[in-house]
Amino acid sequence: MRTQADYTAGADVRTAARLSVAPMMDWTDRHCRVFHRFMSRHALLYTEMVTAPALVRGGALHLLDHDPGEHPVALQLGGSDPSELAEAARLGAAAGYDEINLNCGCPSDRVQSGTFGAVLMKNPDTVIRCVEAMQDAVDVDVTVKCRIGVDDQDPCVVLPEFLARLGAAGCSRISIHARKAWLQGLSPKENRDIPPLDYDLVMQMRGLFPHLHLSVNGGIGSLDQAVGFLDAGLDGVMVGRAAYHQPWDILGEADARIWGDPQTRRGREDVVRDMLPYIERHLTRGGRLHQVTRHMLGLFAGCPGARRWRQVLSTDTTRDGAGPAVVERALSEVAARAA
Ligand SMILES: Cc1cc2nc3c(=O)[nH]c(=O)nc-3n(C[C@H](O)[C@H](O)[C@H](O)COP(=O)(O)O)c2cc1C
Repeated sequence: MRTQADYTAGADVRTAARLSVAPMMDWTDRHCRVFHRFMSRHALLYTEMVTAPALVRGGALHLLDHDPGEHPVALQLGGSDPSELAEAARLGAAAGYDEINLNCGCPSDRVQSGTFGAVLMKNPDTVIRCVEAMQDAVDVDVTVKCRIGVDDQDPCVVLPEFLARLGAAGCSRISIHARKAWLQGLSPKENRDIPPLDYDLVMQMRGLFPHLHLSVNGGIGSLDQAVGFLDAGLDGVMVGRAAYHQPWDILGEADARIWGDPQTRRGREDVVRDMLPYIERHLTRGGRLHQVTRHMLGLFAGCPGARRWRQVLSTDTTRDGAGPAVVERALSEVAARAA
């Protein structure tokens, strides 16, 4: 059985960024990240977006809580005020995050009203001031996650300008969600599907900016596809929904195929067993089983017994007093169906 300490890789974050799990609000919380870490020792894991005002004005430092076993782990910040972001970055680095990322890609109304997220693509001056203030505040890498443009912007014009300015400011690692955000009329969910993907443009950026570490994001649904982008010359691939819904398909073979580390070639069942001590600790601290297991529903996606696994984990785990025994029972039901 693996312990949390096995996963504290202290790895070079740029290398880890060859494959990352995208920041996803309400999804990539600390429990989800621990679960993902048990599948890949090397992948870079992002937090949900934490807003700088919540940390700096609201004092919500609990939002920075994470497990030592999560490294390499990046904190994503939302904000548009350079000094506030600098302070939030400082808090994040002091809490132990390996990277601080600025969200320039999130289109939600709430975020727009705070003038941050994707709307920042219209204000590159502000982005540069924010990035420079954050870089001055911390020693860890400051990175950006962006779109290829917003609204009526021409991505072929704005994206290279945006990247050139980031590069000149010393921000050398950028994840690009390869579609525009349409800030009027689409929900955040629609903004993840409807604007068309333009991977070619991201590949062109690779050629234009050889000194930048560029990751592509958006619509990547398999490890094969991710490896294909790396083989084509991109430095990194960031996977969101597929890593959440079919975590094993994305992360299970990633260490062997992307970092040449066969050590993690193991089974889904091992991941469940590795999670049990973590779950015990969470319950001992007063947490609820469901808070952890809700992220594990997709582990057996595509396998016999997947439905039963989801059923047990989404119902029996919410009962009072539910503990690791529920997870063990779900696992034995999967095993029985696979036999
Ligand atoms: C539930 C959910 C929450 C998200 N929250 C964030 C967020 O906090 N910050 C961010 O930059 N992107 C957020 N995203 C966008 C993802 O990081 C990613 O860019 C997007 O889902 C496209 O990648 P995919 O097609 O691999 O899922 C979120 C996506 C989902 C599905």
